[in-house]
Amino acid sequence: MEYTLEYEAAQKLAVTAAKVLQPRSPIRTRELFAGRWNELTTVANSVAEVGLHALIYGERGVGKTSLSNVIAPTIWAYDDTDPPAPNPKLRLVIKAVTSSGDDFAALWEKLFKEVLWRDDKPTSGFLPGPKPAVNILQAYGLQQQSLTVDTVRRVLTSLPEGVFIIDEFDRAAPETSREFTDLIKALSDLAVDVTIVLVGVADTVDKLIADHASIGRQLVQVHLPRMLADELRGILTYAEKSLPVKFNDEASDLIIKTSQGLPHYTHLIGLESIRHAALKRYSSQITRMDVFEALKTAVKHAEQSTAAKYAKATHSAQKDALYKQIILACAITATKSMDSMGYFNPAALGPTLGKILNRAVTVATFNNHLSDFMHAKRGSVLEREGQARSYRYRFQDPLLVPYVFMHSLATGLITDKELLKMLV
Ligand SMILES: Nc1ncnc2c1ncn2[C@@H]1O[C@H](COP(=O)(O)OP(=O)(O)OP(=O)(O)O)[C@@H](O)[C@H]1O
Ligand SMILES: [Mg+2]
Repeated sequence: MEYTLEYEAAQKLAVTAAKVLQPRSPIRTRELFAGRWNELTTVANSVAEVGLHALIYGERGVGKTSLSNVIAPTIWAYDDTDPPAPNPKLRLVIKAVTSSGDDFAALWEKLFKEVLWRDDKPTSGFLPGPKPAVNILQAYGLQQQSLTVDTVRRVLTSLPEGVFIIDEFDRAAPETSREFTDLIKALSDLAVDVTIVLVGVADTVDKLIADHASIGRQLVQVHLPRMLADELRGILTYAEKSLPVKFNDEASDLIIKTSQGLPHYTHLIGLESIRHAALKRYSSQITRMDVFEALKTAVKHAEQSTAAKYAKATHSAQKDALYKQIILACAITATKSMDSMGYFNPAALGPTLGKILNRAVTVATFNNHLSDFMHAKRGSVLEREGQARSYRYRFQDPLLVPYVFMHSLATGLITDKELLKMLV
C-alpha cells in the first residue's frame, strides 16, 4: 500500500477524518458504535419484556449517552421495522436530557412534548402534511397541570410499547428518584407495556434511585464499565475501514493505553494523529511520532475544566516541588490497579515514583502530597476511602488520568517508551 499523499488528498483526509472520529459528540449511528453488545442486548431485552425497566449507569465519559442513542435503532432492528421516519410502524422511542434541578413533572413534560398525536395515533419527529399535530399533553388537556405519578402512568397506558429514555438523570432534583421508583412499581404492577430507561453518572445504583431494593426485579441495572482495549481498537479499526489510513501497531497501542478505557480520548488522539500524519508528513500511515504530537495538541485543546484541574493540582512556586511527578505516579498506579472503581493502594506508588524520579523514595516523599491532592486548594483531584493505614485513593474525575499522561509526555516529564513500559 502506498502511504504518501498528494497535497489535496492530505487536506481532504484531515477534514473527512473528523466525520469518523468525533471526540466531542456522542455516537448517533450503529455503524460508528463500537463494542458494548452485552449492554445493548440487556437493554433491548428489558424493552421486550413487559414490566421491566432499565437503569444505565457509569462514570463520566464512558459512553452512556452514545449507548442510549443507539437503543432506538437497535430495537427497531429487533422489531424488524425499517426506520425511514416517520414510519407509523416504528415503536415510539422518546429521549430527554435532564437539566439541573428538573423534577418529575418537568421531565415528563419534556418527554410528552415530543409525543405528537395525529389521527388518533401517537408518533414523534417531524411530520409533513397540512394537519398541525398536537402533542400528547395538549391532546389530553394536561398542559396546565403539574404531572403526578398517577397522571403519567395513565398517559403511558395509552402509549403501548413506548420507550422513554432520560439521560443525565443524576442532575434531577433530589425527590425525583423516589417518584420514579413509585412510577416504575406502578407500571410493573399493572403490566403497562412501556419501558423507562434512566441514564446517569454514578458508581452505584443507590446513588441514582431511591429504594431500589424494592424494585430490584423490575429494574435491570446496566453498569457501563470503561471500554476494553479491544473495543477501543474497534474505533481505530473502523477509522481504517472508512478512511485511507493505517495505524502502526505501536501507534494504536499508545492511543489505546493513554485512553484508559475512555472512548473520548481514543477519538481525540486518533483524530489528531491522522491530522498530524496527513498535514505535516503527507502520509496516511500513522506512527508513534504522530501520536506523540497528537498528545501535545490534545493537551492544548483539552476540555478547559480538565486542564484547569491539572493546573490547580500541580501548581507550585518551588521549582523542585514534586506535584507533577507524584500525580503522574498516581495516574500510572491507578491504571495498573485492578480495582473496578479505580481505587489504588498508596503503597504501590513508591516503586513507580522511584522510576520517574530516578532515585529511591519512601512513603514520606509523597504522603503529604496525597493529602494535598484531596484538598480544595488543589482542586480535590483525589478522593479516598477506608480506614487510616489502609486508605485507598482514586481520581475524582477519571478524565484527568489520560490528561496527566498527555501532559507529562508533552512536557517531557516522561518519554512515551518509559510510560508504555510502566503501564504494562
Ligand atoms: N461504543 C462507542 N464506540 C465508539 N465511540 C464511543 C462509544 N461510546 C462512546 N464513544 C465516544 O466517546 C465519547 C464520550 O461518549 P458519551 O458522550 O456517550 O459518554 P457519556 O458517558 O455520556 O459522557 P458524560 O458522562 O460526559 O455524559 C464520545 O466522543 C463518543 O463519540
Ligand atoms: Mg452523556
